[in-house]
Amino acid sequence: MYQTEFPTLPLLRRGKVRDVYDLGSSLLMVATDRISAFDVIMSNPIEGKGAILTALSLFWFEKTADLIENHVITANVDEYPIECAPYIEQLRGRSMVVKKTKPLPIECVVRGYLAGSGWKEYQQSRSVCGIPLPEGLVESSQLPNLLFTPAHKAETGHDENITFEEAAATVGHDIAETLRNLSLKLYSYASEYAAECGIILADTKFEFGTMPDGRIILIDEALTPDSSRYWLRSEYQEGKTQVNFDKQVLRDYLETTVWDKNPPAPPLPDDICVKIREKYQLAYDILTKTSAETIL
Ligand SMILES: Nc1ncnc2c1ncn2[C@@H]1O[C@H](COP(=O)(O)OP(=O)(O)O)[C@@H](O)[C@H]1O
Ligand SMILES: [Mg+2]
Repeated sequence: MYQTEFPTLPLLRRGKVRDVYDLGSSLLMVATDRISAFDVIMSNPIEGKGAILTALSLFWFEKTADLIENHVITANVDEYPIECAPYIEQLRGRSMVVKKTKPLPIECVVRGYLAGSGWKEYQQSRSVCGIPLPEGLVESSQLPNLLFTPAHKAETGHDENITFEEAAATVGHDIAETLRNLSLKLYSYASEYAAECGIILADTKFEFGTMPDGRIILIDEALTPDSSRYWLRSEYQEGKTQVNFDKQVLRDYLETTVWDKNPPAPPLPDDICVKIREKYQLAYDILTKTSAETIL
């Protein structure tokens, strides 16, 4: 499924991956099979990706429910509001009905290792998001402490790294502290669990939203390969770029083409789509200790 068309439901937003419909006091979030790279959505779906992302998020939401309330109301289509009835078969296995919140405009990133934009900044200024770091770290080094490195959630285009003070200026100091504490707690729990599975959680991003009574809850997706850098412990080597579970195959392929990273993206060959799908499946299998075959 590349895109949903539910003409009798009000579409709130089509994100890069999810189509979100407004059900009044709740939202219907549908994870499609879309995949993006360099913030551009590819024209091919990755079959099964939406189902895997949904199941993995549900897995983590359940595991972390004692740490923080999350937005899930139900993922059982038999319990969906009656307006969803015409679309049940398309919704099964790839959607959730969730609490409608006011999303906080901060992406809550936690980093345990030096990678991506963090590694880029470190090479230039020995800091990550303005936080000073010691000399001598190399690409993919474990950081001396966990870092909370918020980003401003851009409506379109690239998210922009900001300092903690800038985040506090946006959402208020108390809320920024709450977001930092929750994010660090969630990362610590998840990285310990992942380690037991032979996986390093290098970094991850959480989103939070505010309920009408002011409660802050965990929203969006949680600890999926789209929102996290997962590395196999057995292949981890400091001082080089690691192979990620998510889009590495895709990015590597795109680098072999002449595409200039502006839309539209070139079509993807079938064997690349299959390889990407296998990566998502593998992440699911290892983390849930089950087989994605059972949910696809
Ligand atoms: N419980 C919620 N309440 C309100 N908005 C939500 C909730 N959960 C997720 N969202 C929003 O729905 C969208 C999910 O679609 P997604 O494809 O992930 O978008 P994006 O391209 O911004 O990553 C995001 O904008 C996210 O902030
Ligand atoms: Mg998203």
